Amino acid sequence: MKSSTLSKSVLLYFEAEQDSATRIAHAGNLALAQIDSHHFPDGEMKLRLPAPLPAQVVILRTLNDPNEKLIELLLVAQTARDLGARHLTLVAPYLAYMRQDIAFHPGEAISQRIVGRFLAGLFDAVVTVDPHLHRVATLQEAMPVTNAVVLSGAPLLSDLIAARRQRPLLVGPDEESAQWVAMAASRHGFDHAVCSKVRHGDRAVDVVLPDLPVLGRQIVLLDDVASTGHTVAKAARLLLAAGAASVDVAVTHALFSGDALQLLQTAGVGEVWSTDCITHPSNAVSMAATIAQALTQIQEEVQKSAIRR
Ligand code: R5P
Repeated sequence: MKSSTLSKSVLLYFEAEQDSATRIAHAGNLALAQIDSHHFPDGEMKLRLPAPLPAQVVILRTLNDPNEKLIELLLVAQTARDLGARHLTLVAPYLAYMRQDIAFHPGEAISQRIVGRFLAGLFDAVVTVDPHLHRVATLQEAMPVTNAVVLSGAPLLSDLIAARRQRPLLVGPDEESAQWVAMAASRHGFDHAVCSKVRHGDRAVDVVLPDLPVLGRQIVLLDDVASTGHTVAKAARLLLAAGAASVDVAVTHALFSGDALQLLQTAGVGEVWSTDCITHPSNAVSMAATIAQALTQIQEEVQKSAIRR
């Protein structure tokens, strides 16, 4: 078990996220320690945390492919408390299950609320990036945790776009992307608009372009997440058919399941850029410094409230 001095506060990570953890710990001057995990032949797992733990513990787990990770977090959080942690922060740069925020059909589980409450029961604070909050206004509504911090990848993606493209036009592939598109556009004064989308199935979407000229424009499609890639691929095809000079894609969360990247390429997309919230070859900007800053603030607030008590 690799660990440095476990004094004031420690960042715990799983092996697969060692690089992200190292970037965050370095930016925030945090101690770092790995959680060891063993998978039994029958599919169960055994986790081992460094012991003892300091009072403030941060756990990094980005929640793409979330199902097994949610069980891991249940085991980790309860074990961390047994080992001395009194304040637990979850850093989940990608927060899963946020898109199912209502029962679209009778009987459907409202996963956002259920997973949100599950995590709020385990942690005192949560730090995440661009959670898919559409019909709820704040993360705290979905996840009633004492301290819910929402960061955004839009500013850094906007800086990257400003450096790579001339007078780009930012286009959101659906109405839900409007918040991130507006944020990224305002930072550098980019023109921007959003499409409208009707989803018929996992891989079947209809997209209607916004009513503005795209002829000869360098377009960047910007969204919080791309999963199968069908949403941005459909928008890219329409934009190129309407005369756009180029279409690139920028997303906070690079889920890109299956052949998504191939699909984008076939649709005529040039570059694909993402943040490192999910490790992926398209990662072009790092959220580490922003996350570290949020952790420092949480740490200071916890220390202040401990002094007051
Ligand atoms: C939903 O509104 C999200 O912002 C994305 O547009 C959506 O999840 C993309 O899914 P896919 O890549 O599978 O079309």
